[in-house]
Amino acid sequence: MYKHTTVLKKELIDNLNIQNGQVIVDCTFGGGGHTKEIINKIESGVIYTFDLDKEALENMNKDEFKKEGIKVIPIKDNFRNIANHVQEADVIYADLGFSTNQLDKEISFKSNGELDLRIDKSLNIKAKDLVNALYEKELVNIFINNADEKLARPIAKEITRYRKNKLIENKEELRGIIREVVEREKINKNDRLFNPEARIFQALRIAVNDEYNALGDLLKESFNILKVNGRLGIISFHSGEDRIVKKYMKTQIANAQAKWVVEKLRPNEQELRNNSKSHSAILRIIEKI
Ligand SMILES: C[S@@+](CC[C@H](N)C(=O)[O-])C[C@H]1O[C@@H](n2cnc3c(N)ncnc32)[C@H](O)[C@@H]1O
Repeated sequence: MYKHTTVLKKELIDNLNIQNGQVIVDCTFGGGGHTKEIINKIESGVIYTFDLDKEALENMNKDEFKKEGIKVIPIKDNFRNIANHVQEADVIYADLGFSTNQLDKEISFKSNGELDLRIDKSLNIKAKDLVNALYEKELVNIFINNADEKLARPIAKEITRYRKNKLIENKEELRGIIREVVEREKINKNDRLFNPEARIFQALRIAVNDEYNALGDLLKESFNILKVNGRLGIISFHSGEDRIVKKYMKTQIANAQAKWVVEKLRPNEQELRNNSKSHSAILRIIEKI
C-alpha cells in the first residue's frame, strides 16, 4: 500500500488560485493528497496526474479521485516530459522527492539488496554501475554536488580501492565501505548533521535518476505551457533542489516574466511536530505575467 503524509497541503493548494474549469497539472501524484484537496475545492476542470511509481499509478484509479465534472487524466511518465502531454495549463505544481514507501524500501540507505536506486526501472544505469565505473574525481563531484558530503574524498578513494578486488554489488557493501572511512577518519558521530550513509545514497540516487536535470526541464517546460496569470508551485526537500527552483524562479522574475506569490514558505510548528519528514520542505510559487 502507498504510504505517505502530504506535506504543506493547504499552503500549496490555497496559494495556487484554483478555480472551476481550469487545466491543472499535478506532476508528482504519489498518494494523491494534493490532488484530493483540489477535487474537494472545485466542481469542474481537468487534472493531469503524473508519476513514475507503479503504486502511485494504481492509486489514481481509486473512487476518491472520481467526481462528476472533473476529468482526471493519469500519465505514467517523467514530469520532465510534461509538454509532450499537456499543451496549456492554468496551474502546475510538483511535490518533489519520494513517498514514505519508496524512501523506506527500494531507495533506502538502510535496507539490503542490490545497489540499484532507480525509481524509473526503464533507465539503464544502476547506482552500482556508477560506483564501479566512474573515476574517483567524478564520484567526489557527485557526492559534493548532490549531497554536500564532507567525507566525499576519502569515501570515493575507498570505493576505488575496494573495487580493484571486487566489484560493488549491494547496499551492504557500500555501507561497509562508508563505515570503514568513518572509523578511520575518527569523526564525531554525535554531530546531528552527520549521516554519510544517507548522504552518499542520496547523491547516487539523484545521479542515477538524473533528478537535477529532470527538475530543470520540468521548470522550463512548465513555464512554457503555463497561461498568463497561471501559477507554478514547487515543494523541494533539500538544498540542491531548492537552489535550482529558486534560481529559475528568480530569473523569470528578473526578466519580468513572473512575480512571486510565495517566495519561501516552510511547514508550521504543528506540521513539523506531526511529520518529521516535513522538516526540510520549502514551498515556492510564482505567477506568470
Ligand atoms: C513526495 S511524493 C508526492 C506525494 C503527493 N503529493 C501526496 O500528497 O501524496 C513524490 C512522488 O513523485 C514521484 N516522482 C519523483 N520524481 C518524478 C519524476 N521525475 N517524474 C514523475 N514522478 C516523479 C515519486 O514517484 C513520488 O510518488
